[in-house]
Amino acid sequence: MLFMPKISGLQRMDDFAENIPLLICFTGPDGRITGVNGYFAQATGFSRDDLAVMQVFDIVTEKAGTLKETISAICGMQGSVKEVDVLIKRKDGTEFPGILAASAWQRQDSSGKNTVIGMAVTESSRLERANREMEAANKELKRKESLKDEFIAIASHELRTPIQPILGLALLAKKGQISQEEAWDSVLREARRLTQLANDILDVSRIENGTLRYNFARANVSEIIEYVVNALRTSELGKEIDFYIAMNEGARAAYCDLDRQRITQVLMNVIGNAAKFTGKGRVTIEARADAKNSRYDIVVSDTGGGIPEAVLPHMFKKFITRSVGEGEKHGSGLGLFISRAIVAAHNGAIYLYNNDEDDKKGATFVIRLPFEQPARQSSSSG
Ligand SMILES: Nc1ncnc2c1ncn2[C@@H]1O[C@H](COP(=O)(O)OP(=O)(O)OP(=O)(O)O)[C@@H](O)[C@H]1O
Ligand SMILES: [Mg+2]
Repeated sequence: MLFMPKISGLQRMDDFAENIPLLICFTGPDGRITGVNGYFAQATGFSRDDLAVMQVFDIVTEKAGTLKETISAICGMQGSVKEVDVLIKRKDGTEFPGILAASAWQRQDSSGKNTVIGMAVTESSRLERANREMEAANKELKRKESLKDEFIAIASHELRTPIQPILGLALLAKKGQISQEEAWDSVLREARRLTQLANDILDVSRIENGTLRYNFARANVSEIIEYVVNALRTSELGKEIDFYIAMNEGARAAYCDLDRQRITQVLMNVIGNAAKFTGKGRVTIEARADAKNSRYDIVVSDTGGGIPEAVLPHMFKKFITRSVGEGEKHGSGLGLFISRAIVAAHNGAIYLYNNDEDDKKGATFVIRLPFEQPARQSSSSG
């Protein structure tokens, strides 16, 4: 309970009450104000000197009933009231609504026993605002929760998909209905798919929790491009693809500050997509180092079927592959979501368009990384 020294004029309350964002005041049974906190003075516009000669009834009125009666009732039984709708009058004559709680108790001092009434008023607008904010936060939480539920539902469905063929093929091989060779090939393929998917799901969850960590270091981008293209060239995906790298000396010599492993992952997905969704044709990877505009662009274009216009704006959403087309599903559709998050963490950008040239074939993805030409007097590279 707050200590109220008995002196004339108004006292500052303890620091505690002084800074509470509620209008707090103390009165005697006659309503004469004996103490207020800073917020009371600030919200009403009255100075402490003004308030020292006022009764609380001059400022606070009850919406239904009279505050005088309420106070005398609680004084009589040393009781309390709460959630009383009141109007608070400011010094300039304007009013604002509030909700009041009050208690009465007895205090013994040198002049004998006195009744003190303590009152606290919340501004309705504050309360409403707090309520609105709470409701909005609640809604957002629910929205996130339902997105998470949806993600878990799809992810577990996706994780189950490669398990069925693994089980089926193992059983067939055990019964001798297919060759071991045949079974192992497929089992290995599905197991790799499962591993990839599990890694992707882990990445998505880290991205969404903001816990994906990056190890930035200066790296030669052209080396990463060449590494990825070589890996794809010799993989199943690149079997019937003619990969073509176009890079000038500037791009070849350029270094960027990046997480090598994560940028490799992005290029593996984007260039891998180009090969995967082209099947048979050409994939061109062009690198441009633009020191003037501080950017390094990696432009990946293919001669595949391109992307349906309706899906273009949604390409970076999770599991987008489900809505892209009637055709066979080649992946789970997390690659571009992850790629975009990684590129964004590098302060870069990734965007795409359908090739609109005469033959109108294929899609182009641009990965843009920040790039600065290091200031050094190097000899021309060769
Ligand atoms: N170069 C492209 N040409 C045509 N369609 C593409 C191309 N790149 C991506 N897509 C479409 O966008 C979808 C999403 O690509 P994303 O890389 O996110 O998923 P994915 O490759 O299907 O699966 P994941 O990368 O998770 O293994 C693909 O499923 C495909 O339908
Ligand atoms: Mg992909």
